[in-house]
Amino acid sequence: MRILAFESSCDDSACAYLEIKDGQILRLEHVVASQEIHRKYGGVVPEVAAREHSATMPTVLDALAEKVVGRADGLALQEQVDRIAATAGPGLATSLRVGLDTARALAFAWDKPFHAINHIEGHVASSWLPNKEGESAIALAEDVFPALVLVVSGGHTELLYMRNYGEYTLLGSTRDDAAGEAFDKTAKLLGFGYPGGPEISARAKEGDATAYDFPRPMMHDTSHDFSFSGLKTAVRYFIRDNANKMDDAKFISDVSASVEQAIVEVLTKKTVRAAKGSDVKTVLLAGGVSANHKLRESLRTTLAAEASEITFVEPPLMYCTDNAAMIAMAAYFKSQHSDGDDRLTASVNPSWELGRA
Ligand code: KG4
Ligand code: ZN
Repeated sequence: MRILAFESSCDDSACAYLEIKDGQILRLEHVVASQEIHRKYGGVVPEVAAREHSATMPTVLDALAEKVVGRADGLALQEQVDRIAATAGPGLATSLRVGLDTARALAFAWDKPFHAINHIEGHVASSWLPNKEGESAIALAEDVFPALVLVVSGGHTELLYMRNYGEYTLLGSTRDDAAGEAFDKTAKLLGFGYPGGPEISARAKEGDATAYDFPRPMMHDTSHDFSFSGLKTAVRYFIRDNANKMDDAKFISDVSASVEQAIVEVLTKKTVRAAKGSDVKTVLLAGGVSANHKLRESLRTTLAAEASEITFVEPPLMYCTDNAAMIAMAAYFKSQHSDGDDRLTASVNPSWELGRA
């Protein structure tokens, strides 16, 4: 099975090529163009993002063809592709449309089956992708189910019970901001660029995580829901009251480390509690915030200490943030029990949610 996949749900234009045979990943090629333009706005501007996707996606596809068939030749690429997939949601409607319509048009022109993929399901599938050494944490044939998935991206924070590929029950989600937003909004208050998660994480490495005691919203609440807006507000007032220290590098590092600690503690406590209270064999991590080293370490050590019978899977760092390889992987799983979606009527679904009853 050889899959060509497109991802354009937010501000990354990406294409990937995945070849799987006899349960083995034989080849994976990936190209992603991140839209730098949003940095100057401090967040993603939907109209600008869609325009950028339209301008960039053809060159991203050309670059992928160069990798796969050695030249930017669509007809040669067509020979090497069995199925085409694209993210259909959740995400920004106008951005999603660029990748989805490119994929649908190609599927029609090349007469290939087409799969509309859920972006979060893509993040979940990234756990099966190889790292830069070419090794996958989970083999395709391995039985990891039932699994608990902690989804932590720029727009989502949720716990999913995953019975099998494509079978989810939503256990809980954030009532306000997502974990990624908590990182990004704090980063903005500290004067960092967008997206702020990686910068907070980098500055936190030099800081003292116990320096300031920020709130851990809903950490002791036994529901599986989250809330991060109170943390953001607490940081805002704290920074307002300490405006004279904003030039002090130690202060910035300590605030970064303390905020990261608060977010990581909430995510760890609630995930480990949910895992221990269920029959899951595996805990999976999905979404951009899964690139955070502190979160990985905290989940790894806490699960090992409190529930060592549960396996913790860390997705490859290079496929934590938005990419098309994960969309190709999710399409492979879908192709095992589906002939594909109707390429003429498939449409974007900006608020597509996994596992809600
Ligand atoms: O999944 P993703 O690439 O896009 C969405 O689907 O939303 O997630 C992006 C989010 C941003 O909020 C970004 O700040 C966060 O992931 N992020 C991180 C790190 N790398 C990316 N947050 C904390 N630490 C990181 N190392
Ligand atoms: Zn994402």
